[in-house]
Amino acid sequence: MEDKIIYYQSYEHYPCLPKEIEEEIVQFTEHYIAQDTPIPIAYNGYDNKNEKSLSYVNPKKILKKSGTIGFILLPQNIIDNIINYYTNLDHPLKEKRYYCVQVALGADHIPPHVDNVEERGPGLLYLIKAGGPNVRTIWYKIKDEFKHLQIAYNKGIPYERLIVMENHHLKERTWNWMNFSEPHSVENQESLRIAVYPNDDDPITTYNRAMKYIGQ
Ligand SMILES: [Fe+2]
Repeated sequence: MEDKIIYYQSYEHYPCLPKEIEEEIVQFTEHYIAQDTPIPIAYNGYDNKNEKSLSYVNPKKILKKSGTIGFILLPQNIIDNIINYYTNLDHPLKEKRYYCVQVALGADHIPPHVDNVEERGPGLLYLIKAGGPNVRTIWYKIKDEFKHLQIAYNKGIPYERLIVMENHHLKERTWNWMNFSEPHSVENQESLRIAVYPNDDDPITTYNRAMKYIGQ
């Protein structure tokens, strides 16, 4: 018998961030994006090279443009504000040392993918801006006939190789526990999606690790 996989849990019992801090994060993010500074990218398209990859798509196949997921380390003053806030509440989130902003942008969907386990395993994500009222986060399992193929982390997996398992609308101003190690996608996005990702590693390590996988 297969173990039951947990894909998603709403952590509404975790206190939400104060509006002032959310506003600081949104302003920082919008300013950063407007400057056209490169963003360390996590999600990185389909795989057009390795035919044994679960993410392989023939380069001649025309696909709908997919979006990008990126991570930006928040400035230290905003990180301090978050840590101070949770320290005052004596909440476990006070222990996190690094907070990044996660953005999804560039198109109306991020295709199903598995996050690189070295970059992040299952964990918490705080949603500030969902990206519109119809946006969905969907989890999948791999169809039996494709299970022998190699998983390419952070690369799109064609929808026809997957079975939908769970479909959620993540609420804004809410902490969520998410299984980033199972295939998941973002659908029907209409505007910038902004989330906060608490990170245990220092930003240089995370950045270098993230960059290492680009072009893999
Ligand atoms: Fe992801």
